[in-house]
Amino acid sequence: MGRSQATAHPDVVIVGAGIAGLATAWRLCLGGMKVTILDPNPARAATWTAAGMLAPVTELAYGEAHHLALTMKAAERWPSFAEELEAAAEHSIGFQTCGTLYAALDAGDATELKRLQAFHGTLGLESSILTATETRDLEPLLSPTVRSALIAPGDHQVDNRLAGAALITAVERAGVHIEHAFVTALDGGASWSAGRDNLSLPGFSKSGGFVSEAPRIRVRTDDGSFEAPIVIICAGSWSPLIAGIPDPARPAVRPVRGESLRLGPGSGESLAAARQPLVSHNVRALVHGRPIYLVPRATGEIVIGATSDERGYGTGVLAGGVRQLLDDAREVVPGIDELELIDTSAGLRPATPDNLPLLGPTVMPGLLLATGYWRNGILLAPLMADMLASYLLAGEQCPQEYSPERFSTPAGSL
Ligand code: GLY
Repeated sequence: MGRSQATAHPDVVIVGAGIAGLATAWRLCLGGMKVTILDPNPARAATWTAAGMLAPVTELAYGEAHHLALTMKAAERWPSFAEELEAAAEHSIGFQTCGTLYAALDAGDATELKRLQAFHGTLGLESSILTATETRDLEPLLSPTVRSALIAPGDHQVDNRLAGAALITAVERAGVHIEHAFVTALDGGASWSAGRDNLSLPGFSKSGGFVSEAPRIRVRTDDGSFEAPIVIICAGSWSPLIAGIPDPARPAVRPVRGESLRLGPGSGESLAAARQPLVSHNVRALVHGRPIYLVPRATGEIVIGATSDERGYGTGVLAGGVRQLLDDAREVVPGIDELELIDTSAGLRPATPDNLPLLGPTVMPGLLLATGYWRNGILLAPLMADMLASYLLAGEQCPQEYSPERFSTPAGSL
């Protein structure tokens, strides 16, 4: 499909080219839809700041056991998605089946990991506790003060920055038009009113399949506008800020800021020995009760994350965040002192009231959401893209538990 055709008469406009929007665009385009995706900085924001852990076990929080069915399925989807993406982009995305080792620094941390392992046991998840010796046999460069660890062999990783770059290449090769534009508002579109009957798509035939002769929603940008019968909001934490979304369809997400750091071997000869990663697993740790993770890349780089706070939409990197991450990381792996600080960034996790995603149609005909992936944006994106594609291309309903309708409120009440 030619680029100009996708630009002039897209079937779908996607707002946001993070991993959620790019993966969705790719699946829809491969399914035969004409897709335009709008974002001033594709594959940046949270997709850029993330560490790329694919970790349904060690990312699971107490009280979130109902997330597991989704996150485990999402993790199963990754190996074939990675293979297909690497073939499409013709470069590696650093998918590694490395497992996670979760270390405890003091007695309280060790007790907490035992409690966590018991929680995993009640859910049938694969994890076990290692002694200090067993831990250092697996990761010799962990600090001698590490007391014990939990190992979760099924938690893996991908290099999220390579994956974002690969998705840009893959979607462009498939015929998606990427417009580097900032979306300001939705305009007009079909009339809407609250109620389940409106959770349907203009342009979607009851027998399945998409018919593009349908009312169009206009998406205004800082530089013009685009129209399509289907608009999908994949703008992460920024999703609710787009003007013109009727209140009952407005995405129920809020930003939870997180800083991450990238450390790596320097270019100087004296540091050449450090090109081997200091650790071989995703390393998480409790450092006197504070959680931290160190995610090693094959290049010798280590991603350290992440802080967590709610301060609105600011993405400046705070000195205190960097200091805390470095202090805690060097308690776990002292050798990081020999690495160079390559990069600092802050991103916004899109959190929903129940920490589950928002996926599928809204009460505004033609407007869909694919956002609210919370701490699991990289993990969830391929599976959620498949679900949306099945809905739009084959009429399979998106799972009701992720329906944006669950937070739909009457007009004017938000
Ligand atoms: N998934 C890692 C984080 O949210 O920091």
